[in-house]
Amino acid sequence: MRIAVLASGAGSILESIAAAGLCIAVVVVDRPCRATEVAELAGITARVVPRASFGATFDRPAYTKELLAALGGHDVDLVAIAGFGTVLDGAFFDAYAGRVLNTHPSLLPAFKGWHAVDDALAAGVKVTGCTIHIVTADVDAGPILAQEAVPVVAGDDAATLHERIKAVERRLYPDTIARFARGEL
Ligand code: GRF
Repeated sequence: MRIAVLASGAGSILESIAAAGLCIAVVVVDRPCRATEVAELAGITARVVPRASFGATFDRPAYTKELLAALGGHDVDLVAIAGFGTVLDGAFFDAYAGRVLNTHPSLLPAFKGWHAVDDALAAGVKVTGCTIHIVTADVDAGPILAQEAVPVVAGDDAATLHERIKAVERRLYPDTIARFARGEL
C-alpha cells in the first residue's frame, strides 16, 4: 500500500506515520513548513505544490488539478491527510474515491473546521478528542473509522490541549491507516 501524505504544518503526525513503518511514497505540502524537513530526514520525496493565494481569489479546481498531477507519477494507493490546510475540490475525491483518510482534532461531528481545538475550548467542553475518517467532498463529514476521547484540563490553552490530542493522533492514525490498508475497516 503506497501512501501519499498531505501536510502543511509541523509534520509530527507525518513523523508518526513514517515511524510506524508504513510505506510513504511521497509527501506533498502546500506551503513552506517543517513537514518537508521531516520527509527529507526520513528519506521520503517531498513535493511543494504552493498555493498562489490564500484569499478569495484562490482557484480550488486549478489547485486540485496541480495536486493530482503531483501525485500522478507516484503510484499512490491511499492518501493520508495530516494537517493539510487546503480544502480540495471534488475532483480529488473522484480520483481517489474512498481512499483518502484524515485525522481531525475533535470528536466529529462536533467542532468541524480548521479551529476545532479553539472551538472546543470556547464551548467549555470537558472532553474532546480526535477522529480518523474517510474524506469526502463534504468537509469533515465522511465515514468515521476511529475516535478517541481526550480530556480538557483546567488551565488548558489551545497549545496544551492540541498537544494532548496530537499525542493520541500519533498512535491512533498510523494504527487506523494500517488496519484500513489491511482491509479490516
Ligand atoms: C493534527 O492535530 C491534525 O488533526 C490537524 O492538524 C494537526 C497536524 O499536526 N488537522 P502536525 O503538523 O502533524 O504536528
